[in-house]
Order: sequence, then C-alpha cells, then structure tokens
Amino acid sequence: MSSPPRPTLLLVGGGGGLVGRAVVEEFSGRYRILSVHRHHVPNEVGGKVEWFPADLGARVDWTSLVQGTRVILTLAWYRWESEDRFRVLRDGLLRLVDAARQADVPRMLHVSVPPAPVELEERLPYLRYKREVDQAIRDCGLSYRTLRPSMLYGHGDRLLGVLLRLIHRYGRLPMFGDGSYHVSPLAARDLAAALRLEAEGSGVGTVDAGGPVRYRYRDLTDLLFGALDRRPKYFPLRPKDSERLASLLSTLGSSLLYAYEVRWLVSDLLGLPPYEGLDRPLTQVDTYVRREAARILSGDAL
Ligand SMILES: NC(=O)c1ccc[n+]([C@@H]2O[C@H](COP(=O)([O-])OP(=O)(O)OC[C@H]3O[C@@H](n4cnc5c(N)ncnc54)[C@H](OP(=O)(O)O)[C@@H]3O)[C@@H](O)[C@H]2O)c1
Repeated sequence: MSSPPRPTLLLVGGGGGLVGRAVVEEFSGRYRILSVHRHHVPNEVGGKVEWFPADLGARVDWTSLVQGTRVILTLAWYRWESEDRFRVLRDGLLRLVDAARQADVPRMLHVSVPPAPVELEERLPYLRYKREVDQAIRDCGLSYRTLRPSMLYGHGDRLLGVLLRLIHRYGRLPMFGDGSYHVSPLAARDLAAALRLEAEGSGVGTVDAGGPVRYRYRDLTDLLFGALDRRPKYFPLRPKDSERLASLLSTLGSSLLYAYEVRWLVSDLLGLPPYEGLDRPLTQVDTYVRREAARILSGDAL
C-alpha cells in the first residue's frame, strides 16, 4: 500500500541560513520542501529539498509556488543592507502574502524579531520594513503564527560561536557597559522544532520565544571563557563607545557586529521568557557551549 503524499512546505529564505538549516533537518521526511532563495547550499542536495533559485525581491511566480502548499514559512531577512534593498525585499514578501491569501493557503508561519528600542523601531530600515511584513501577515486573514525568537545559536551562528572564537584567539572580549542586561538564547534546532509543531497546530498570533535560561549577559560571556578554560578578561566600553566601535567595524567592511545590535543588547529587551510549546525540554545553552568549545580546542574549523 502506498503512503499518503507528504504535505508541502514552501520555505521562503531557504535551507542555507542558521534557522533554515535546522528547519530542513526538522521538516524533511515529513514534508515535501520547496525552497526559494538565491544561493546553492549543500544541505539541500540529495532529494531533501526542491530548490527554486530566486531573489525574493524580484518577480517570483508566487501564484504557482503557493498552489497546493500546506504551510508557508518565511525566514528571509538581511542583517545589514541599504534601505533600498530592505524595501525591495519587503515588497517581494508582500506579494507572497497576497498570493497566499488568494490561494487560501491553510497555514502561514513567519519568523520575526523581538521588540527593539523605540528609536530603532522608528528609524532602522531593518526593523521598519520587517514590521510591515509582520503586519501584512497578521492582517492577511489566514491561519498564521509569528515567532519572534531572542538571539539564536547553533553551529555556524554569528553570536556564541563567534564570541568563543574571539576568546580563543585574543583571550578577551569587549564588554558593552556593565553587562547587567539580559539575554535568553534559543537553539536554532528548538526554534525549528517549535515551527514544526506550530505548522501542525492552529494557534494564531505572535509569540516571543526565548531559551530555557535568562542570563545576565556578563554571566553568559563568563560561561564562554570557562568553557575554553580561560579566566574572563574584558575591555570595558561605555555603551555609546561600544556603538561607535561597532560602527567603525562595519565602516571598515566587517560584519562582526552592528551598532544597532549593541544598542538592542544593552537595552535589556532580549531576555525573553522561554518558549513553552515544545514537546520536550528546551536545549541547555551550556551543553552547546561546551561542545563548541571542545570543537575549537581540538582545532576543528567551522
Ligand atoms: N539569527 C538570530 O539570532 C535571529 C534572531 C531573531 C530572529 N531572527 C530571524 O530569523 C530569520 C532567519 O534568520 P537566520 O539567522 O537564519 O538568517 P540567515 O542565516 O541570514 O539566513 C537568511 C536566509 O534568507 C535568504 N535570503 C536573504 N535574502 C534573500 C533574498 N533577497 N532572496 C532570497 N533569499 C534571501 C538567504 O538565502 P540566500 O542567501 O541563498 O538567498 C538565507 O539563507 C530572519 O528573519 C531573522 O530576522 C534571527
């Protein structure tokens, strides 16, 4: 007897990013995955995923892509780009939402970002255009769920893994202000598991999602030093000087850290409550940190 056809997931932003890689792992086998994004990625080969190469800001034939889709999941966003590029990406995502509404797609999932300081929400293209996409999804009339995770981690991330490598290389980290603000890091694989449960559920609305522990930032960085058998050492920087340093780095072409990320971090808005909808405990950050530190100490390249 043949098994019933698998439902289709339209993965908008693809399986190459931090969340996308975990999503492909979590959904493949259960879903037929159609993935729309720009660059070839190794984890989409081997029949796991059907890739539609496209820039989402360009004219994409959403009408045919959404046809027969059970779930749409939107991940794509830039961390840093010109205002024009954000606008064009927003327009592409709004065209997708429109096509989804016309096709009456059963479930719409969206990954957004948690609340930021008001001045960033008002002036930063990264946030202003993201909020317009959030609103279009909220108002589209479909069954939707938006998850707004706190900082995410996983192998190849741009946060905990990068901090570990900086400590390994230089023996110290900059400390933005007094480090007393909070973060509750969430594993990308836990977010992917949450998205799969949300794909099969019917809950509607927006949920802010943190990991299992709300750390004082300085306690988290101390933990990173400890995992590498180092005593914590910091360059103390006032918050404004931290933003200046980040601006200087990005002016020099580095993507290590952006000024808005520092501002957001020290605003103490990132210590989100733990996501409560999983069918298993959330992954503990220290388990991941110890594993990544061991990988770095053994000389394993990223
Ligand atoms: N990482 C975090 O800590 C964090 C925290 C909270 C929320 N989020 C949100 O979670 C989502 C995923 O984050 P992530 O860290 O996984 O991002 P990521 O690693 O940068 O991946 C983003 C993906 O979007 C695709 N993409 C970007 N622009 C595109 C375009 N114009 N056309 C087609 N595809 C495009 C990229 O694929 P191609 O390059 O192949 O096109 C890439 O695979 C984002 O919406 C982000 O705002 C992330």
